[in-house]
Amino acid sequence: MTPLDTGPLSTRTQLLQEDDLRRGLREDVLAGLRATPKRLAPKWLYDAAGSELFDAITALPEYYPTEAERAALRLAADEIAERSGARTVMELGSGSSDKTRTILDALRPHRYIAFDVSESALDGAAAGLRRRYPGMRVDCVVGDFDQHLAFLPEGADRMLVFLGGTIGNYPPEPRAKLLSAMSATLQPGETLLLGTDLVKDPRRLVRAYDDSAGVTAAFNRNILTILNRELRADFDLDGFEHVALWDTDNEWIEMRLRARRAQHVRVAELDLDVDFAEGEEMHTEVSCKFRREKVEQELDGAGLDLIGWWTDPAEDFGLSLSRKR
Ligand SMILES: C[S@@+](CC[C@H](N)C(=O)[O-])C[C@H]1O[C@@H](n2cnc3c(N)ncnc32)[C@H](O)[C@@H]1O
Repeated sequence: MTPLDTGPLSTRTQLLQEDDLRRGLREDVLAGLRATPKRLAPKWLYDAAGSELFDAITALPEYYPTEAERAALRLAADEIAERSGARTVMELGSGSSDKTRTILDALRPHRYIAFDVSESALDGAAAGLRRRYPGMRVDCVVGDFDQHLAFLPEGADRMLVFLGGTIGNYPPEPRAKLLSAMSATLQPGETLLLGTDLVKDPRRLVRAYDDSAGVTAAFNRNILTILNRELRADFDLDGFEHVALWDTDNEWIEMRLRARRAQHVRVAELDLDVDFAEGEEMHTEVSCKFRREKVEQELDGAGLDLIGWWTDPAEDFGLSLSRKR
């Protein structure tokens, strides 16, 4: 029995405590700022302000993935419901759970589990879901899917849902590990619904990650604010500019923060001094783009058989439904 199998109709489980978050952040930042090139992991982009900025990004005219995925979900919802037959929906990185409603409307599951590292995003989503689906059990889990998948509840007829193209934040090797870990949480016959952004004209891709209003730039730079607050660092936000570029070989968008001038940063909490050369770029996020064959292959490698593939009418975004062998 896992902690989630107990409790009343609607629960909130805290798998990540403040201390765990802080420890994880410290370890990642220490390793990342000592690495060449310097890097920070994208999961740290999502404090309360980061989650709000991400939601603002999804409303930008240049950021096509959200509406494209929503359109694909609308087209596919009935077939997903029929083919999965799921009674429990477990969503990883659920954020606002906004698009998920399309699936919940078609499936009408007994239980929905929203799982996210961002407490504020979960709190915002839960109230609306409880109002909209009064008979459905809604469980919120503050957790890290890199560590806590084993805490997902056991049961029958479950569907794991991973939307927003978040899987694309993982380069191939860690992605294979995450897909295998997700597959390992499922029983044979249970399903995974996965949203993947598709390869397209690089100019559109770059615009989606470097919008004219500068919201994505603010989202990217917010990680420096988090480091200043949580680790007593003294990053000068104006000293770094947002960079988004398309890597043709890897078929991914890369977000970076480029030092506008040479600078020295002190991270007091880590007793760490870091120098940035003028023009030096620190990597903050990749967003891999996919083709159907690649998705099918990677799912297969994780023991999952593709049983459905849908896109929006413009074929910008792919949705796959796969079944555990
Ligand atoms: C790109 S957003 C997608 C949000 C939502 N699923 C959507 O489609 O709009 C990624 C979400 O995953 C969450 N997240 C990122 N890394 C995570 C991790 N390691 N464990 C749990 N949640 C994570 C973030 O807080 C954020 O809500």
